[in-house]
Amino acid sequence: MKEKFYITSPIYYPSAKLTIGNCYTNIICDTIARFKKLEGKDVFYMTGTDEHGQKVFEAAKKAGKTTKQHLDDIVEDTKKLWEMLDIDYDKFIRTTDKDHIQAVKKIFNKLYENGYIYKSTYKGLYCLPCEAFWTESQLVDGKCPDCGREVKPQEEEAYFFKLSEFSDKLLKLYKENPKFLMPVSRVNEMVNNFIKPGLEDLCVTRTSVKWGIPVDFDSKHTIYVWIDALSNYLTGLGYLSEDEKTFNRYWPADVHMVGKDIVRFHAIIWPAILMALGLPLPKRIFGHGWLLLGGDKLSKSKKTDTVECTDPRILVPRYSADAVRYYLLREIPFGSDGAYSTEAFLNKFNSDLCNNFGNLVSRTFSMLKKYFNLEVPVAQQDGEDDLLKTEVMEESKKVVKYMQDFDVSKALSCVFNIFSKANAYIEKTEPFRLAKDPEKQKRLATVMRNLLECIRIGATLLYPFLPCSSTKVLNALGEKAPFSLESTNEFYGIKSESVVSLPILFPRLDVEKELEELSKI
Ligand code: MSP
Repeated sequence: MKEKFYITSPIYYPSAKLTIGNCYTNIICDTIARFKKLEGKDVFYMTGTDEHGQKVFEAAKKAGKTTKQHLDDIVEDTKKLWEMLDIDYDKFIRTTDKDHIQAVKKIFNKLYENGYIYKSTYKGLYCLPCEAFWTESQLVDGKCPDCGREVKPQEEEAYFFKLSEFSDKLLKLYKENPKFLMPVSRVNEMVNNFIKPGLEDLCVTRTSVKWGIPVDFDSKHTIYVWIDALSNYLTGLGYLSEDEKTFNRYWPADVHMVGKDIVRFHAIIWPAILMALGLPLPKRIFGHGWLLLGGDKLSKSKKTDTVECTDPRILVPRYSADAVRYYLLREIPFGSDGAYSTEAFLNKFNSDLCNNFGNLVSRTFSMLKKYFNLEVPVAQQDGEDDLLKTEVMEESKKVVKYMQDFDVSKALSCVFNIFSKANAYIEKTEPFRLAKDPEKQKRLATVMRNLLECIRIGATLLYPFLPCSSTKVLNALGEKAPFSLESTNEFYGIKSESVVSLPILFPRLDVEKELEELSKI
């Protein structure tokens, strides 16, 4: 039986259409999921939408729609977006799904019966846009620490989760599992900013918010955001449903991929809830950085006055899903923040996708057509090319190593090192010169075969990152999906006797012209 791998993205707020910042999280998840499949794992990848709460309710009102209609419209747009970006998820969960609602009620009851939930009065400082209560000490300059907006004092009867009981257990968890929360810098942040100052019990219901899941035994209360939202990782697998087969197969999650703004909820509240339910904990939580625009987080609620084109719905049809995926995966050092710039996106398209990868493929295929009529030549193993082979195999191993720690940007740069090395090999061996010398035909065959193998190995490793163009290249080489990582263990692996010509993968862009046209859209 294959080893399982369960990966989740956060479930997105459908308060407005998703941004390229949200796409970043799902592109990383999709890349990791595809890589694990390439490794031969049985992968389950879940994404979805977080549909309850005041913010969504208000957004629908503002849009002049019923809440349900507003949600359905955004969910439709979201699903189209994932299709456009080649996000190949196994399940899309909506927190308004009937089975999720049923299971969340049961989870709440179970926490109550286990003695982890009690009724009291909540007094706090509430940030409406973030739907979060804050304590005085958490405020930054008297404002919400997440979004910087005004907070207002608010009081109400509510149920509380005994989060304060979990400080020592959480400290023990981080200590015993140094890779539980990554990058490691985030552990200190959790410990110093939240656990050491003392965890307070968490308010988990609202009477003021009507758009939520009612508490089973006290229906004037609705279950407030985090128990509802975080439970999706369980309910989406069928936890507490009539059929728990999928849950038993895939839980615990191998990784919850989240942006740094929601690490706190995943690394503190979530393990505490799971411990209270008596369930195993996820193996890893990864908090990635933000995509910034003009120094700020690119977000749904901020209207930024900018000349940048950030809408994937415009970028993908113009430049391809692979181009958007490439830029986001490569340009943001994994775990840190990275600035978005349309100009950098276009320049990267030209330098990396067109000049490096695209050019290698088109040069090699056109030479193969000219010299060997697209037949795959046999290589002489004369030791002359050992350095190239060793370097390619080393880069390939590095890709696997970086992907173990989900460092997608470093892994992707190693894949591109393979293409750079193959391009340098063309410059060094000069097949166009060899072709003119009748005595060098065997050498020419060897060089061309080696180039094809570099492309095969590189394109296989590239598949999780840029699935569309790598599939085109691999198919042209006679490789059929599902591709496998194992096939990159040997340098010589092409089985097909001939290859098929390919159209240009990434046509060169006139950056000035593109910038001008984009600014008009
Ligand atoms: N609904 C909650 C998550 C609940 S998970 C149980 C939520 N939704 S969100 O729509 O606001 O954000 C979803 C994800 O998008 C988060 O991981 C967030 O970090 C990510 N991003 C939103 N803007 C982003 C950038 N500008 N850059 C990178 N990621 C960003 O939080």
